Amino acid sequence: MVVFLFYSPAMQNNTPSRDTFSGKFGIIAAAAGSAIGLGNIWRFPYVLGENGGGAFLLVYLLFVIMIGVPVMISELLIGRKAQLNVFGAFKKLAPGKPWYLIGVMGVGAAFLILAFYAVVAGWTLQYVYFSVTNALDGNTPAQMIQVFEGVQATKGWSVFWTLLFMIGTAYIVSSGIEKGIEKYTKILMPLLVLIILILDVRAVTLDGAMEGLNFLFNPDFSKLNSDVILEALGQAFFSLSIGMGVIVTYGSYIKKNESLGSTALSVSLADTLIAVLAGVAIFPAAFAFGMAPNQGPGLVFITLPNIFNQMTGGYIFGLLFFMLLSIAALTSSISLLEVVVAYFTEELKLRRKQATWIAAGIMSLLAILCAFSDSTFGAFDYISSNILLPVGGFLVVVFVGWIMEKNSPRLEIEADGRKARYYKGFQFVIKFLAPIAIALVFLNGLGWI
Ligand code: PFF
Repeated sequence: MVVFLFYSPAMQNNTPSRDTFSGKFGIIAAAAGSAIGLGNIWRFPYVLGENGGGAFLLVYLLFVIMIGVPVMISELLIGRKAQLNVFGAFKKLAPGKPWYLIGVMGVGAAFLILAFYAVVAGWTLQYVYFSVTNALDGNTPAQMIQVFEGVQATKGWSVFWTLLFMIGTAYIVSSGIEKGIEKYTKILMPLLVLIILILDVRAVTLDGAMEGLNFLFNPDFSKLNSDVILEALGQAFFSLSIGMGVIVTYGSYIKKNESLGSTALSVSLADTLIAVLAGVAIFPAAFAFGMAPNQGPGLVFITLPNIFNQMTGGYIFGLLFFMLLSIAALTSSISLLEVVVAYFTEELKLRRKQATWIAAGIMSLLAILCAFSDSTFGAFDYISSNILLPVGGFLVVVFVGWIMEKNSPRLEIEADGRKARYYKGFQFVIKFLAPIAIALVFLNGLGWI
């Protein structure tokens, strides 16, 4: 999301006028804005649905706590210590060494992610349109599936809505009106949570909802295999926006007296809670309406409109839901585009407007490719979430655990003047547990060990 990255020439180097977040709520709202998006509400349920349900959830939660939170603390402390963007930060903390390549990899990941993200955001906009025109009213579950298949198959419209979304993202990033947006999202995101809660209540009171809750919360360990475990790791990275430098940049705007540990914890908790709440709306409904939980990327678009049809005020709830989801997607996509724009302006010395439209132009071409080809869509998604982000996260923890001067991570974490009682545990995790776990899951998932 929004506040953060935003460019003023002073942000390029370590000048006294460097912007900082105004306070605790600002930081959490901003970081959570990047983290909370389609990843929670669209990607989490469909990946969970394809990977066996409850057992996936358990592994996912384990990874968020064991790997996600420590990686996020590491990225925050790198950013705050260096007071620079991700490339500059690694160049400053490890001069003459190639660690800044983590940032370059992050730029690659941002291109791939935004390419398919924009297509899904385009679908979301189409569902806003359907909601306004009440086009889904009275549809049977089977018809809902047809509608979604139509959305995917009608390439012209898909491309139109995808480009509209990209233009919106690029416009905001190029003209620097993020601060205005942030003001609204502080109100709008809690509203999204409220609507999901209302949906949850309706979903779990549907006939046959129990089966869906069982699917989500009752782990069947026979479903676990190396692919499922790698998917859970990739989903944790994707959802928390870690492993590609976004959080390093946030860290650089956090004041010294703020606690990095509790920031990372709150953001991760909020992010995970929203994903689970989305699951609680989707799976009971899917089962109640006789739909398979492994529908793939259409799951949320197929399932939720059935609930809207079954509730009083469904028209307004449906409309609000898809509008707010579009905004959640926008605040995440801004952070993705910003990674590339920061690189283009600061490393390649392009002007900001130029950088934004060049980046958005290339991303739009990639997005059109994704709209036309399901396999390109799937490949971009897989490569970014399951390969680039975990490799990025691995390098980040190795950097903090083994490369930074011995005491400096601790000094940065404790710069708020409070003793970090968790530090010894954190150090163990980033030196050993997290890198070994990421490496094992990754190599095993790719079939290399
Ligand atoms: N975390 C975002 C979501 O869950 O929708 C997606 C995302 C944003 C991934 C920014 C990576 C990133 F750097």
